[in-house]
Amino acid sequence: MAKENIIEVKDLTKKFKNFTAVDSISLNVKRGEIFGFLGPNGAGKSTTIRMLTTLLTPTSGSAVIENFDIKKNQDAIRRHIGLVAEKIILYNHLSAMENLEFFGRLNHLPKKVIHERAEGWIKRLGMEDWKDAQANTYSTGMKQRINIVRALLTEPDILFLDEPTLGLDPQTTFMIRTFIQDLNKKGITIILTTHDMIEAEALSDRVAIIDHGKIQAMDTVNNLKKKVKGKGSPTLEDVFLQVTGLDIRDKLGKAKKQSGPPWQGGDGKRVR
Ligand SMILES: Nc1ncnc2c1ncn2[C@@H]1O[C@H](COP(=O)(O)OP(=O)(O)OP(=O)(O)O)[C@@H](O)[C@H]1O
Ligand SMILES: [Mg+2]
Repeated sequence: MAKENIIEVKDLTKKFKNFTAVDSISLNVKRGEIFGFLGPNGAGKSTTIRMLTTLLTPTSGSAVIENFDIKKNQDAIRRHIGLVAEKIILYNHLSAMENLEFFGRLNHLPKKVIHERAEGWIKRLGMEDWKDAQANTYSTGMKQRINIVRALLTEPDILFLDEPTLGLDPQTTFMIRTFIQDLNKKGITIILTTHDMIEAEALSDRVAIIDHGKIQAMDTVNNLKKKVKGKGSPTLEDVFLQVTGLDIRDKLGKAKKQSGPPWQGGDGKRVR
């Protein structure tokens, strides 16, 4: 039996004044899957995630999460989702535990429940020794682990992770990737944004590639690889570059156009 959709997005659009950041996207996420949401800088990934997590109001279109409409049932949706946002927000003068308490209380959780829920994750993510030190003494990897535990305090069915391993060392990256897989095995549906193609391929059941606010491709990694032309044993990076091209997304500058398949320079020479 086909898995049911836990998220259904239809023609979702976000305009900032006359700039369309997300342009009529439609997609479904199935219950229990890890859905990789990929795209170049400025493609519209975080804007989409912010709409789906009720932080931003869509200009048009719809999205239904756990049968709740993102425009009408925001409180209900917030009870089902967790968000590890692109930017880590922590109070530097508080410890990890105090930060968790603070954010848990914002979600109306009693202190006892916050501690009970956090305990296992703190152990699993190796935070026991420093959970009571002030956050301004933490490394990026330590801060990101607090950020993740914070998102789990409400015991969400769906976890949105916007570049969760950005700027982390290989050890913390490995820990967080295996943690994401563990959460998924426990039944949590994951929406994962990353620029790391190896990470996306290793974790995702399906991926969507968004560019210029539009979904350009969506399938399992294996099926997407089959569509890559002119290259034996293509990687997800080959797929990504063929779908999105080689132009750099400089907002202020004009992108330098290059022709030819992505794994070749414009002159047809192999570049790697
Ligand atoms: N509040 C805003 N006001 C105006 N423009 C915005 C706003 N938020 C995002 N944008 C623009 O919308 C586009 C999409 O941004 P978004 O942050 O969704 O991209 P992204 O895919 O997450 O990129 P990155 O990989 O760099 O995180 C960008 O051009 C961005 O500058
Ligand atoms: Mg982003």
